Amino acid sequence: MKGVILSGGHGTRLRPLTHTGPKQLIPIANKPVIDYAIEDLRNVGITEIGIILGTNMPNKIKDALGDGSKYGVNITYIMQGEPKGLAHAAKTAKDFVDGDSFVMYLGDNILKSSIKDFVSEFDDSDFSSRLLLQEVADPRQFGVAELNDEGKIINLVEKPEHPKSNLALVGIYLFKNNIFEAIDKIKPSWRNELEITDAIQQLIDDGYDVDSFVVEGWWKDTGKPEDVLDANQLILETLKTDIQGIVEDDVKIKGRVVIGEGTVIKSGSVIKGPTIIGKNCEIKGYVGPYTSIGDNTKIIESEIDSSIVIGDSVIQSNKRITESLIGQNSKIITDKKTYPKGRSFVIGENTIITL
Ligand code: TTP
Repeated sequence: MKGVILSGGHGTRLRPLTHTGPKQLIPIANKPVIDYAIEDLRNVGITEIGIILGTNMPNKIKDALGDGSKYGVNITYIMQGEPKGLAHAAKTAKDFVDGDSFVMYLGDNILKSSIKDFVSEFDDSDFSSRLLLQEVADPRQFGVAELNDEGKIINLVEKPEHPKSNLALVGIYLFKNNIFEAIDKIKPSWRNELEITDAIQQLIDDGYDVDSFVVEGWWKDTGKPEDVLDANQLILETLKTDIQGIVEDDVKIKGRVVIGEGTVIKSGSVIKGPTIIGKNCEIKGYVGPYTSIGDNTKIIESEIDSSIVIGDSVIQSNKRITESLIGQNSKIITDKKTYPKGRSFVIGENTIITL
């Protein structure tokens, strides 16, 4: 079995962060979101991984992942170019898949539990595809599956007005080779994309069996800023304390905290976990729960919580920064004379905000 991770797309909902790089590299707990997919595949023994690249700075993905050896996998890069839909992306992987079965994993999705039970016994089964599903409160925003009593999928609808179930498609799919014939038969949708739901429906209409697996534990699609922050929170819940840097006297550390090498937590600071602070940072102030601070960042006399600072940034703010997503190499400096309420930002790379 092979793995195919989709790392193209426009990422419009994550602008401005996606103006300077692909969204799959946005760090969640200081690790690019795509790393979680690679590790999930590797942990079930899938080491031949194809990475689908789009037009938004694909070289940044190549530079970050390399040949895959640092993850213990072999990476093959596959150029999709313009994002013409998930089924189009799958189709570009046909030569790479070369007759094997494969897991198709959306590169901006994170799953708490392993895909182990999902992939088990698929190769030996008669099913042409297996879909990972999750119960959701409002299925109208998702692809929704209708199942028969045996858990076989009988119908798939993209964002239905009147959903027939509360089982939404998670962005992880299992396919055998006949998915490529199904993709060749479908036409672009109203949004001019080849939809994977249409391709799977085509498989069903052609008489092939499609299985389902309902996932327990959380699943996050990090397509929007609030989802990125939610995923950060969920991953930080699993953090284990590891302090490598220097913690000066008179610092309060509460809860589970990771502090990277070369980082200095200055006297008088309070760090409340779960929180991760990268390497070579300088922190003076308050870092609250659910915060990830990337390498080479300075927090100067400031308070921050529930946020991601990607790295190489300076924050000197006279009011607490909360629920913010701060791009690489940004500066937030507040004028000491202004005293507004808490601040919330989503800002791209190389930004300077003076308030
Ligand atoms: P989406 O989040 O649905 O699409 P997008 O990346 O274009 O984002 P937005 O809607 O904000 O503009 O894509 C889901 C995943 O699949 C994501 O990791 C990008 C990837 N993808 C491709 O690789 N090729 C494609 O043609 C599409 C549509 C998505």
